Amino acid sequence: VPIRHLYDPEEQLSLWCQQDSDVIPLHVAENVLLFENHLKPLFERTCTTELADTKYQPNYGRDDLNGAVGAFLSKSLGWDPALTHREISSFAGTRSAVDVMGRALFEGYADRPGGSSVLMPSPRWHGFAWTYEARLGGSIVDIPLTAEGGFRLTLKAIQDAYGAADPKPRALVLTQPENPLGVHYDRAFLESAAQWVLEKTDMDLVSDEIYAHCVVPGASGPAFTSALALPQAVEHPDRVHVVWGFAKDFGLSGFRVGVLASRSKKLHDVVRPVTSAGFSPMTSSNAWFVRKLFHTRGVAEGLMKEVLPRELKQSFDAASDALEEQRIPRFGGTHSAQFFWLDLRQWLDRRIPTVHCPNDPEEDFGDPREQALERYLRCGAKVSLLRGQRLAASDIGFFRLCYTAVDRGTVVQAIRRVGTALRAIPR
Ligand SMILES: Cc1ncc(COP(=O)(O)O)c(C=O)c1O
Repeated sequence: VPIRHLYDPEEQLSLWCQQDSDVIPLHVAENVLLFENHLKPLFERTCTTELADTKYQPNYGRDDLNGAVGAFLSKSLGWDPALTHREISSFAGTRSAVDVMGRALFEGYADRPGGSSVLMPSPRWHGFAWTYEARLGGSIVDIPLTAEGGFRLTLKAIQDAYGAADPKPRALVLTQPENPLGVHYDRAFLESAAQWVLEKTDMDLVSDEIYAHCVVPGASGPAFTSALALPQAVEHPDRVHVVWGFAKDFGLSGFRVGVLASRSKKLHDVVRPVTSAGFSPMTSSNAWFVRKLFHTRGVAEGLMKEVLPRELKQSFDAASDALEEQRIPRFGGTHSAQFFWLDLRQWLDRRIPTVHCPNDPEEDFGDPREQALERYLRCGAKVSLLRGQRLAASDIGFFRLCYTAVDRGTVVQAIRRVGTALRAIPR
């Protein structure tokens, strides 16, 4: 994969947006909902440091931090038995956890075989391609979810994609809640998928649950079930793994802290030396900040159980009402994560006005109509969205809008701008 394709499209767009403060950046998956009233006072109150915070620490995270994260996630995500510090390894961001996990899968760990591909529903977060394709030279076998099929993942679709793949994929990698669809799976589906994967194939099950606490209260959808909370995960401790991080639920994307949670001792024995060699390390400054969240008992739990759902719902409702008011169609199933998946297909074949777009970072990529619409909204309406083909969507004309990236008043303003701009496109 040429290096220029490794750029993060979200990062590129964010850099571009910095040149024009009028542009509202809703392309990036960030969460500002907790900072001002909750995290800022917490960090200011607990801002003390010790010599140990400045020195070498285990590159996969100190035992006390891994233990605190394990206890916290076990409680909030229903992992029973709870995971201890030996079953959590921390890295520089969830992308690093994805990466070390991918490497372990492809190289094989302990008595588990190696591999060169993974099975994954699409649309999906573009960063998976950095690990599985660009860095490891393998491939992602897509299970395309389509508008026609209601973007629903079924066991049959997983089985069909697995059956057609040669060689067989090394793991089924799920993201739940899904980025960009904003849905998670019901327990019965997850149990049947896990059972089939673990009993009928040699695959591992990897679940990226970085948005796990972002479940919108009152939106119709199933209760969230973590892969590590399934009975099959306890029966097969070496084959079910979760990655999670502080970037989305807590909105601490700049801290770069992500974890690999697995009951497989063999897996941790393999991934920990990778970080000790200096790659993807957990730094003491990251650890210092994150420990503040666990400084006072119950603070992290309260933020995730009470504050985040309340804030998320207000932002979800405000964005949802604005989309309705502007008659902007969207995938209707959204009930979790931080996104709306806008369905702008009806504008693709209209005469999208050409707009002046200085220093545009968007190279020619994919469908030119989708690209023109993205550019028109960004440079004309001054709202930046992430277009579907960047997220490996098979349907053209879908756009991801992150409704937690900026304050809710600004999100509503952005949606109104998009509505006005869409209405101005001649047929
Ligand atoms: C599904 C998913 N996994 C992983 C990541 C990367 O997380 P981090 O910023 O902690 O590396 C993202 C970021 O957008 C994501 O959406």
